[in-house]
Amino acid sequence: MQCKIPKSIFWYEHYIVQEGKLGMISIIGSGRVGSALAFLCASNTLDDIVLVNKTESEAIGEAMDISNAIPKNSSITISGTSDFSKIRNSEIVVITASSGTYLKSRTEMIGQQVKMLQEISSEVVKFAPNSKVVVVSNPLDVLTYVFLRESKFPKNKVLGVASSLDSSRFQLLLAEELKANQSEIKDAIVLGEHGDSMVPVFSRAMCKDTPVEDLLSEEQKKSITLKLIGYWKKLRDYKARSVFGIAKNTYDVLESISKDKQISIPASVLLEGQYGISDVCIGIPVKISKNGVDGINEIKLSDFELDSLKKSAKIVKEYL
Ligand code: LAC
Repeated sequence: MQCKIPKSIFWYEHYIVQEGKLGMISIIGSGRVGSALAFLCASNTLDDIVLVNKTESEAIGEAMDISNAIPKNSSITISGTSDFSKIRNSEIVVITASSGTYLKSRTEMIGQQVKMLQEISSEVVKFAPNSKVVVVSNPLDVLTYVFLRESKFPKNKVLGVASSLDSSRFQLLLAEELKANQSEIKDAIVLGEHGDSMVPVFSRAMCKDTPVEDLLSEEQKKSITLKLIGYWKKLRDYKARSVFGIAKNTYDVLESISKDKQISIPASVLLEGQYGISDVCIGIPVKISKNGVDGINEIKLSDFELDSLKKSAKIVKEYL
């Protein structure tokens, strides 16, 4: 059902998606994160964008606003709708929708979120069966697994973005603790659940070519880990919820797929024995390109880090 706007306003026609256009990015959910992501895609002329929202007027309003951010010489378009059939032929489908706002933990609305994800996955199977699917909604690892289970998509076509966001936070916290610029911190990655059991990999991180483990005490490492886990909550002391960090980390994945620019980041994918873990989605190092997940990198972890990763997988599995 299209939003009823008087026919006299001719520009409305402009927002009706040209059906059947090959390749485009569909973003399910035009809230803060979905619209920030759409803005990044549009202002970088990544591809045609369809913003889908239950409340169609919200999607149309964001599309009208963001269309003014499309560079003048670009032919891409952006449109808003509540009609899932408009995602037909999408190259990429991003799921940012949420059925409400969690306050204490990312898993507190898990029942509604899984139900919402199941509904979305049946629409994606129907209208975009060949798309690559990027899950952003929380609880991230559970919903990534649920999408895979419900859609029966090939495992390399589905991934969840959040560990790269956690990794950017880890890099910042290390820089602050070591009184360095975050650009001087290398290989700061976070694996595991996008949640309280996430695993910062101190053993790989470097500060100005020195292993950070040579520069930090156990106390400092514990303090950084607690700040990392609590970052999303601390941020909410100052604003409603995180938006730009998750949007930019998700944009990097879309750009990699859309422009076939291979990147290596931690993301939530299905494990089938890697790191001694199976049948669960958690953040691990992967290569991404046009095909989606190009491969899983099995990196060296300390015994403590590997043990923590297995514990994290066990915690996520309890929700499945
Ligand atoms: C956060 C949300 C994206 O960590 O889970 O800010």
